[in-house]
Amino acid sequence: MRNSYRIPVSKPNLTKEDFKEIKKTFDSSWISSKSPVVEEFEKAFAKKVSKTKYAVSVNSGTSALFLALKSLGVGEGDEVIIPSLTMIASINAVTLTGATPVLVDCRSFEDFIFDLEEVEKKITEKTKVIMPVHLYGYSCEMDKLVKLAKEKKIYIVEDAAESMGATYKAKFLGSFGDASCFSLYSNKIITTGNGGMVATNNKKLFDLLRKIRFFDFNEDSHFTHHVIGYNMVLSGLSAALGLSQTKRFDKMLAKRREIFKTYKKYLIKGDKYFIPEPLKNQNPNFWFPAVIFKSKKTKEKVRLGLLKRGIETRVFFRPLNTQPVYKDLFKGQKYEKAEFLYSNGLLLPSFYELKESQIKEITSLINSFV
Ligand SMILES: Cc1ncc(COP(=O)(O)O)c(C=O)c1O
Repeated sequence: MRNSYRIPVSKPNLTKEDFKEIKKTFDSSWISSKSPVVEEFEKAFAKKVSKTKYAVSVNSGTSALFLALKSLGVGEGDEVIIPSLTMIASINAVTLTGATPVLVDCRSFEDFIFDLEEVEKKITEKTKVIMPVHLYGYSCEMDKLVKLAKEKKIYIVEDAAESMGATYKAKFLGSFGDASCFSLYSNKIITTGNGGMVATNNKKLFDLLRKIRFFDFNEDSHFTHHVIGYNMVLSGLSAALGLSQTKRFDKMLAKRREIFKTYKKYLIKGDKYFIPEPLKNQNPNFWFPAVIFKSKKTKEKVRLGLLKRGIETRVFFRPLNTQPVYKDLFKGQKYEKAEFLYSNGLLLPSFYELKESQIKEITSLINSFV
């Protein structure tokens, strides 16, 4: 990621081993999605990252969400419940299927956890899927959500784009839902450049996902298609990088947690900002350390002050009900907590090579600005 920041918010960790694996695939000439390394990567990912029986690689996290919804038969007339505070990809995947997105707020002004009481209130006879988004690696009470969905006969598709390696009650996020979707974009804990993965324990879903990600091409009759398929596959070259990165997954995950701890050590305990607490039973991956300021003015002061010194940060996602592109769909709806968190939240740099001295510099600047 080439940019002009002295300390970028994110940077992929790329090694000689990664390059060797890519070169091996390059030299074999199996560079497309037909490469054997694709399946090798999927198996390694399922074992190490999603902790599911199966994983199906695709070209982005957005494609993963779309294909997961399609494989569950989601379409026009169905409703999908999603948080208002999430990245635009979550809702775009829903609307691309023709289904109607239904929004839910965060449960408090102190954290960005999906409000399960509101989820329950928003369920109708049209609800086909609930899609929790494990924002910045934090989850809601997944056991409660699974119980609710089972009772109501609704599917769960986890948007685990940001939550690789995070756990709830010692179980990996991405292993709770009927399907779960990961992003492998270059700012994620492990990456393929661009890419994504759908994980599932359901063999039928797995078989269908493999068909619809690539035109329903099949061995028996190559150009005869029984279901509508797309071209959303991951290339062999990308999978080679993914396979190599997956081997370092534990190390990369541990580093994110260590970075978070270091931030916590140096950030002051004052009344100007706070770090959201995860649930008691949750171990987030701390993809990016999130800080919430009591006032928007202070957040902006910090953001601009860091920027001036070449330090990049990231604001929170803009709530979906306030997105110009969806303004007609959610006219008159308000999601107070999501809107507050969007105004007042800031993500701090986190990447494998970030040094303690750099965290010290960032935190002492923040402390001086507030
Ligand atoms: C919550 C969430 N969902 C979905 C996506 C989409 O992933 P991708 O960028 O790989 O399409 C992202 C991207 O980071 C995300 O943050």
